[in-house]
Amino acid sequence: MVQEKKKKCTVCFEPSGLCIDVPPGSTLLKAAQQVGVYLTSICGGDGYCGKCKVIVDEGQFESRPTTLLTPEEMRENVVLACQTKVLSDMVVTVPKPHALETSQILLDTDTQRFSQLAAEVPEGVFEFEPLVQKLHVKMSPPTVSDNTADHERLYLAIRKQIDAPIMQTGCRILQNLSKMFRESDYDVSVTIGRRGGTTEVIEIEPAERYRTNYAVALDLGTTTVVAHLVDLTNANTLDTEATYNSQINFGEDYIRRIIYAEQNDAFDEMQNRIVHDVNNLIVTLASRKRIDLQDITTVTCAGNTAMIHFILNLDPTQIRKEPYIASAGFVPPIRAAEVGIQVNKRALLYCLPSVAAYIGSDIVAGILVTRMYTKDGVSLFADIGTNGEVVLGNKDWLVCASSSAGPAFEGSGVKHGMRAGAGAIEKLQIRRDGSSQIKTIGDGRPAGICGSGLLDTLGELFINGIIDRTGRIKQNHNPRVREGEDGLQYQIIQPGNGYQEIFITQADIDNLIRSKAGVFAAIRVLTESTQIKPDDIDIIYLAGGFGNYLNTKQAVTIGMLPDIPLEKIQYVGNTSIAGAKTVLLARKALETAEDIANNMTYFDLMSHPGYMDEFIRAKFLPHTDLSLFPSIKAQAKQVKGS
Ligand code: FES
Repeated sequence: MVQEKKKKCTVCFEPSGLCIDVPPGSTLLKAAQQVGVYLTSICGGDGYCGKCKVIVDEGQFESRPTTLLTPEEMRENVVLACQTKVLSDMVVTVPKPHALETSQILLDTDTQRFSQLAAEVPEGVFEFEPLVQKLHVKMSPPTVSDNTADHERLYLAIRKQIDAPIMQTGCRILQNLSKMFRESDYDVSVTIGRRGGTTEVIEIEPAERYRTNYAVALDLGTTTVVAHLVDLTNANTLDTEATYNSQINFGEDYIRRIIYAEQNDAFDEMQNRIVHDVNNLIVTLASRKRIDLQDITTVTCAGNTAMIHFILNLDPTQIRKEPYIASAGFVPPIRAAEVGIQVNKRALLYCLPSVAAYIGSDIVAGILVTRMYTKDGVSLFADIGTNGEVVLGNKDWLVCASSSAGPAFEGSGVKHGMRAGAGAIEKLQIRRDGSSQIKTIGDGRPAGICGSGLLDTLGELFINGIIDRTGRIKQNHNPRVREGEDGLQYQIIQPGNGYQEIFITQADIDNLIRSKAGVFAAIRVLTESTQIKPDDIDIIYLAGGFGNYLNTKQAVTIGMLPDIPLEKIQYVGNTSIAGAKTVLLARKALETAEDIANNMTYFDLMSHPGYMDEFIRAKFLPHTDLSLFPSIKAQAKQVKGS
C-alpha cells in the first residue's frame, strides 16, 4: 500500500502518453476524463457495464471487487477504471478496443462517409436567401440638397435590395459609420443577419469583401459531431468533416451526461467539450480550404434537445425529470462567439427548433428535409440512434414520439459492439454450413460489430433458428453455440490466425431486442392513435447514424419496422446536417422548421397507457402478433419457440 500520503498522484495513460496530476483517491476513469483520454463508459461509471477496462502497468491502486473481470484478466492487472482508486503515481495502458481519443478528427475514409451522407432538399424548394448575407451597397454621397444622415442613408440603400421593414444596428457600427463611408466613398459591403422579423446590420466592410461569405452547418450528435463548410455566395458545400463527441467520456447517452454534470457541477465542462469539438472541426475545414475564420458569418446547428442545451450552456437538468421540460425549444439567434465558437466575432448562431425534451431539432430537420409535411400520403420518419425517434404524418398533421431505444444498435451495451469505424462488421450472413460471411468497414480484420452488423446478426440468428422468437439462444448442438461466462453465446468469428474471437451473448441479444421493441412500440402508439394501418404508409424514411448502413429487410425481419414493401423504405442519411444546411441557405426554411416544430403533436410514451403493452408485445421476433408481419410469417412459424 502507499508509503506516504501524497498530495497529488501523476497518472500516465499509454499509448497516448498523456499524464495528469490527480488527488489520491480519484478514480482512473475520472483521471482519464480530465486528461482527455477516451474510455468507453456506457454506465457512466456506475460499475456495471464492464466497458472501462484498462491495464495497470505501474503504481498502487485500490479496486472494488467486481464479477465483470475474469480471473485471467485480474492476473494481468486489468481493472475497471471507474472502480479503481489511484493511490500513487501510476502508468496505465488503455487497450485498443477503446479505439478513440477525444477530439480525434475522423480521417478514416469509411467513417468520414458518415459526414458526407446527407440528404439534400431539392434545389428550388426554398428561395436562396441566406440567413446572413453580404450586400454590395453603393450610395450617393450626401450633398447640400441631400442631407440624409449616414445611417438612414444606409437603411434606404439596403431596402432597395432586400425586404427589411425592421432594422437594427449596433452601437459599435454606428460609431465607425461616418469614417468608413467617407473612406470608401459610400461604396461598402454590408453584412446583414436575420433575427426573426428584424434585420441586423452586422458588419460594414470595404466593398470588395461582399464576395467573401462562409457558413458552417453543424449536426450535434450524441456520438458524432458533423460539420459542413458552405460558401454563402453560391450555396456550394466546400468540405465536410466529422469528429466524435468528446463528451462521450462522461457517458454514452446524454442522460448519463446530464447526471454526471449535475453530480460533479460539470455543466461548463460539458459545454467546453462540445464547443472544443466544434472549433476543432471548423479550424480543420477552414485551414483545408484556406479560409479565414473571420469570413465565417453564420453557424447553424441541429441536434437533440440535450446537445443544444449543452452547447448553449442552458440548464438541461429538467430534461430527465418528470414532466421532462426543456429550458428552451425555440432559441433566438445569438452571437456564435457568446458560446465560444471561434468564427467572426459578430457571426450569428442559429439553432433549429425542437419539439420536446426528447424530440430535438435533429428530428425537425429530418421532417424539413424529407418534406413529409407537404405530402398528401402518410409518411413515417424514423431516426434510430441512441434514441429511436419516430414521426408519422402528412401535410395536415404530424405526430411524434421518442423511445429510449438505448444505444445497443450503435454498438454500446453489446460485448463486441463498436461504432461504425474501421474493422467493424457491418454486414453478416450465416451460411448453410453455419459459417459466417462478413464484411467489415475498410475490409480489415474484424474488431467488433457495428449497428448494421448487429441488425444482421439478430436477423440471421432468428431466420436460421439459432434463437427462438423470444431471442433465447437454443442449445441444439450448433458448434458455434457455447457456454460462456455469462451463459450461452454464439461465436461469429473464431479465434486464431491473428483473428480475435467475436461472439454475441444472450445479454447482447436481449439488449438488441429491447431496442427494436422500443422503436416498434413507439411506431405502434402513433399508428394506433391515428388509426393508420401499415398499408396506409406511403413511405418510411430512415435517418441517423444507424440508418447509414441499415439493411432494411432485416429491420422488418426482426420487427423493428412495419412490414411494408421494401421499396417503400428509403434511407435518407444524415438529415440533421442536411436540415442545418438548408436553413442557413434559406431564411424561409428556418421559418418552415419553426412551423413544423409548432405543429407536431408529441406523445409522451412513458405516460401513454398503451406503450408498455406494445413494448412487451414487440419483445418477440418479429412480434407476438404475426399478422402484423405477413411477409415473414411463414419463416417465423418455422422457428421453434413460436
Ligand atoms: S463499468 Fe466502468 S464505466 Fe461502466
